[in-house]
Amino acid sequence: MEQQFIPNGLTASTEKGKVTWQTPSNIALVKYWGKREPQLPENTSISFTLSNCHTTTSLSFEKKQTPSDDFVFEVIFEGEKKEAFKPKIQTFFKRVATYLPFLKDYEFVIESSNSFPHSSGIASSASGMSAIALCLMSLEKELNPTLTETYFYQKASFLARLGSGSACRSVKGELVVWGNHPEIQESSDLYGVEFTDVVDSVFKNYQDTILLIDKGEKQVSSTVGHGLMHGHPFAPQRFAQAQENITNIKQIFAQGAIDDFIQLVESEALTLHAMMMTSQPYFILMKPNTLEVINKIWEFRNGTGSKVCFTLDAGANVHVLYPEHEKESVQQFITNELAVYCKNGEFIHDQVGMGAKKIEK
Ligand code: DP6
Repeated sequence: MEQQFIPNGLTASTEKGKVTWQTPSNIALVKYWGKREPQLPENTSISFTLSNCHTTTSLSFEKKQTPSDDFVFEVIFEGEKKEAFKPKIQTFFKRVATYLPFLKDYEFVIESSNSFPHSSGIASSASGMSAIALCLMSLEKELNPTLTETYFYQKASFLARLGSGSACRSVKGELVVWGNHPEIQESSDLYGVEFTDVVDSVFKNYQDTILLIDKGEKQVSSTVGHGLMHGHPFAPQRFAQAQENITNIKQIFAQGAIDDFIQLVESEALTLHAMMMTSQPYFILMKPNTLEVINKIWEFRNGTGSKVCFTLDAGANVHVLYPEHEKESVQQFITNELAVYCKNGEFIHDQVGMGAKKIEK
């Protein structure tokens, strides 16, 4: 299967150039938590693609003067040279080298910046790795101009996955599924696919306000957390539950069943954190204010009949999800009642977006 991504006809050549992609972050509704080598998910996940939270990455490339057997690159993050980011990219290059045999022929400069504040706790690996993957695909396209659009995006997602699992859901489409599922056509463990089944209009332009509860470095990285699902006593049940939830959310989208959506999405978030709390070693990424906010959301929903709900990623921040027609009232509620629980009162209004954009010179 992976074989399809090994190029066999790089007919053109290019000495030097520069490409730029802007790629979004995403927020999972059914969570990916647990993986096996090489970066394959233990269950299917689905996410909303975001819009305002994104990474912009430029890849400058120039053919090496003298061939060498190593990867030559510089990383510049928000205008500064970042040695600390190099090992992650080095690992990524090693993983994808089979699929991008031209990598060692070039010297690269990777320049990247995020639209969201640095160390805000917003997962930057999804947007960051998908941006690099798309830039590398643009280079491959220069070397093989006959690449089809389908292959281009599929392989970009495939490469992004090898950088960070959730990154494969940050390439194309408003709702993206990653992981093989009998009820999702074309779904694959190797890359994300656009969810193309019926989606009721209530879920169009869905809103996500990210409350920045805790901006510090996480005590446990996602990669370590995924690892703790190996031998986890509840892992098999969790993986089976996620598969069922994909079946359920498909129905929910088709029927516009927003109450069921709320229940499924909040349960997924709490289950993700329950897995962390029941790992060995166990850990807690929620903070007291995460729980304060959750309770406030429940109170508001019960009191007003609003359809607002929350989800969490692997951290303390809360994603507040709500339909577009409630934008005004929910944003008012956030400003009046939730902002106090955020670090420096900070939150980011976002909404569902379409996916990555190539930035032309
Ligand atoms: C909780 O994709 O960050 O956000 O594959 O190790 O890079 P790696 O992990 P990562 O895990 C994200 C986990 C999650 C849930 C999700 O996005 O589905």
